[in-house]
Amino acid sequence: MSIVTLHDKSFTIYLSEETIQQKVRELADALNREYAGRRPLFIAILNGSFMFASDIFKHLTVESEICFIKLASYRGTKSTGQVITAIGLDQDLYDRDVVILEDIVDTGKTLHEFLPQLHHQQPRSFAIVTLLHKSEATKFPLSLAHVGFEIPDKFVVGYGLDYDGLGRNLKEIYQLAPDV
Ligand code: XMP
Ligand code: MG
Repeated sequence: MSIVTLHDKSFTIYLSEETIQQKVRELADALNREYAGRRPLFIAILNGSFMFASDIFKHLTVESEICFIKLASYRGTKSTGQVITAIGLDQDLYDRDVVILEDIVDTGKTLHEFLPQLHHQQPRSFAIVTLLHKSEATKFPLSLAHVGFEIPDKFVVGYGLDYDGLGRNLKEIYQLAPDV
């Protein structure tokens, strides 16, 4: 499928399943090298990162743990700029090698506002891995350890990302089509 319609909008294919899966393997390979012997704790940010987190975790060969937290801050096609606090962070991060898994870093506000809560727990190390990064949209600079794809500032859906609830099941990533 090269065009999908979700609610009132059309989206065109941007990253194929194969392209995404190849990148996921590359990211996992890098993490396997970097975290050998360190038993990292991965923190996947729900909802959007569930598919990315699941795929990357399948390719990890280092002993690792994962937990899932929620920090919803997004409605419709524009960032609301409202960050809700973390739900589900019950692990002790003290002295752990923590790796955040995000589907997309857009303005950077969500993670920027969440990071002090993590640092407060004094992890041994801390890294952010994001599948997608809209560098043009970044307003809150973050140090990103790994970025899967640098993408333009256009709304995307699929592979866990949604447009008002729909599109998360798509195996590919789609871009909002221009209005005709
Ligand atoms: P910020 O701006 O805080 O945004 O970096 C991060 C969160 O906003 C959501 N987001 C998107 N979701 N398509 C989506 O489906 C997009 O193009 C998009 N841009 C941002 C996402 O939940 C991310 O974690
Ligand atoms: Mg997200």
